[in-house]
Amino acid sequence: MPRVLVTRRLPDGGADPLASIADLELVGPKSDDSPYSHDELVAMAPQCDAIVALLTDPIDATVIEAGSAGALRVVANVAVGYNNIDVTAAAAHGVVVCNTPGVLDETTADTAFLLILAAARLAHEAETDLRAGRWAGWGINQYLGIDVHGATLGIVGYGRIGRAVARRAAGFGMGVLHHARTPSGEPGFVADLDELLAEADIVTLHTPLSPQTTHLIDARRLALMKPTSVLVNTARGPVVDEAALAAALHAGTIFAAGLDVYEREPEVHPELLRAPRTVLLPHIGSGSTATRRRMAELATSAVATVLHGGTPPNLVHP
Ligand code: GLV
Repeated sequence: MPRVLVTRRLPDGGADPLASIADLELVGPKSDDSPYSHDELVAMAPQCDAIVALLTDPIDATVIEAGSAGALRVVANVAVGYNNIDVTAAAAHGVVVCNTPGVLDETTADTAFLLILAAARLAHEAETDLRAGRWAGWGINQYLGIDVHGATLGIVGYGRIGRAVARRAAGFGMGVLHHARTPSGEPGFVADLDELLAEADIVTLHTPLSPQTTHLIDARRLALMKPTSVLVNTARGPVVDEAALAAALHAGTIFAAGLDVYEREPEVHPELLRAPRTVLLPHIGSGSTATRRRMAELATSAVATVLHGGTPPNLVHP
């Protein structure tokens, strides 16, 4: 009898594909929908054929090794990012890993644009003043941001989400530069990230998290950006050195920032919380009802495919 651990409550309909598995025994989520601890995951993994995990579940080498010594065959992450899973250990132990590419690109690009607009136009500071009763009426010198239309957007990481942001930028009449590890062969490609950072008015990050992209945006690179520039991160928190970013915002060496992701979620660096001209969202990048459901369906259908003996299209290769 196949057992599938679903670590957290999924959006309505998101687990429907599992219904195709005969005699399925569903394990989890906990009745209060609290996360499984690492120890609990290690203990449960060998008893399950599959784990449907969220990006907050640490599926590290210990969980994989324990699981593969028992029944575990597949881990499906309900996220496109999979830095919470040790994919190298999974490959070494014959455990298949899947993610949810494609279905969240447009929603995440919407969130990036929300942050671009909100940060550039100081929406957070203006709204905070209004709600606090500090707005005394229209003023010609109030809340002066930078224009998004006509600005040069620098996209770092030119995969599906980066390209979806580029499409939106075209509608705003922006010039678009992009940087990626491998040349895209498309107009606007900048091989040298430092050069892109120095030229862009607004920089938006869309790289996966890896050892190569950890602190990709550090103090040295922040110093290359224009004092009038805006940095937006909807990728993964550790791509940016948060302490260095907070220092740059406090010192005014960049103009503004919009963040959806953090180095140690759910903690937010205290200096970022205090930083001026900063919009902070709680990792809602893919957070529309329709997209979250599509992500859950894609992950659970990958589990169903593997348990039926097939190969899902959304495999992660280390
Ligand atoms: C969200 O952050 C995801 O990786 O899907």
